[in-house]
Amino acid sequence: MTDGDFETSAARIDADQDTQSVAVDDDAIGAETRIPSSVMFSAKQLRRARDLLARLYALRRTKRFYPEDHPALDQAAEELLRVLDQYYEEGVDVPLAFYEDEVLLGEQLLVEDSVLFDQLIRDMTAIGAGSIVFSRGITIGELKRFAGVIASDPETAAEQGGIQAVLHDANVPNVQIAPVILVHEKTQLTDVDAEKAAKASYADALDLMRELDRLMRNNQVLDVTHINGTVRSLIENVLNNRYAMLELSGLKNYDEYTFYHSANVAILSLALGSTLTTDYRFLSTLGVGAIMHDLGKLAIDVSILNKKGPLSSDEWREIRRHPVLGAETAVLTPGLDKAAVVMILEHHMRLDLTGYPQREQARPQHLASRIVAVADAYDAMTSRRSYSGARRQDEAIGILVKNAGSAFDPVLVRLFVSLLGLYPPRSVVRLSSGEIAVVVAPGTNDITAPRVRIVAASDGAMVEPFDIDLGDALQAAGRHVERCLDPAGLNVDVSDFI
Ligand SMILES: [Fe+2]
Repeated sequence: MTDGDFETSAARIDADQDTQSVAVDDDAIGAETRIPSSVMFSAKQLRRARDLLARLYALRRTKRFYPEDHPALDQAAEELLRVLDQYYEEGVDVPLAFYEDEVLLGEQLLVEDSVLFDQLIRDMTAIGAGSIVFSRGITIGELKRFAGVIASDPETAAEQGGIQAVLHDANVPNVQIAPVILVHEKTQLTDVDAEKAAKASYADALDLMRELDRLMRNNQVLDVTHINGTVRSLIENVLNNRYAMLELSGLKNYDEYTFYHSANVAILSLALGSTLTTDYRFLSTLGVGAIMHDLGKLAIDVSILNKKGPLSSDEWREIRRHPVLGAETAVLTPGLDKAAVVMILEHHMRLDLTGYPQREQARPQHLASRIVAVADAYDAMTSRRSYSGARRQDEAIGILVKNAGSAFDPVLVRLFVSLLGLYPPRSVVRLSSGEIAVVVAPGTNDITAPRVRIVAASDGAMVEPFDIDLGDALQAAGRHVERCLDPAGLNVDVSDFI
């Protein structure tokens, strides 16, 4: 299934329109209902959808198993309303969509919930409730009557003229139900929406790292729900919105190096992992392991972590404890995906097992750890750290290639280079024409020919930025990338041009 490509029986919902319109079958209720514009839900709102779905499932079951006037039905309706109210207080209505094996909040796919609520998804699609919108102003009474609607058998609903007719008879004005069918041509999120969703996901990953840091330094238990929710949002964005995420993964922050580094490594690992498989369980474990790979550093004295200049051998020894420290914390964290511990422990082991920590009995580095190792090395090399400056992106890619087969898995390095290109997003490059440009996206067919934004003419004068695809002969007009430049030396702030 693609991004939000649904259409009702009567009208299409376009992901890139300002408003979604769901024209409910006129014969059934004789009215057209417009659903509020395509809201981008925050990571917190997406996480809360699990509670919402659990309450919805409970409401349906209660209605099916208890008599009409049983207090359990009041309670189930109240609990659903309590979750809905949290969304309403944030100023949004609540549109759910069920299609085949998947559930969406608005246009955002809830990957993990699609697995957890497979029964609810089947039940809703069986009665033709492909999309359900709970509008603000809904009452307990309405929700109790709505329970009767969704508790219908498919046959009974069909006999009464379809689920919309059942809803109409039940008098529930603040709920709209419509069937959905897949639109075959892919509709894309607008660039603005994609960028917004990617930024929200990235910001959430940074917040998670700040929280983990606080908890670790206070010896408190880590919040697994927050970790899993953040990783779920990163996966959704990497799968649906890869270029915006790859571009963000080039962000650096000297003062919060470990937090940005962890977010970047998670994105780069998921992007690389998703070229091998899109299996959610694998990506989820990979994402958790990747974002937490340096967890052990949060237990190391900041004076060593932030020390300017070379480290003593004792200090290096201390830093090299971080995989074991992190793995120990992760193992003791209740509910944490234990497979993620492997990546935390193994990310510095190297393919040839000459890294650290050393094992008594040699065992190959796990595939997920090899993925994290490539992403980790690339992001670390291109970041300025307390003990070393940032390398240019093309230089870092060159080092990965040089060490493929010894430190890194050569197949993964090859995939990584085709993913990011030779000149990854956010690189500042000099073109053969003498112009200066910022790379905005990797080339689609040629790793040496990215899409770039030209920001300065050959004489160095800044120009009104414009994009060209160097993979397109017509646009490139003979230009190619000559080399990466150090933006610091040029006094160019890449963020101004992205
Ligand atoms: Fe590390």
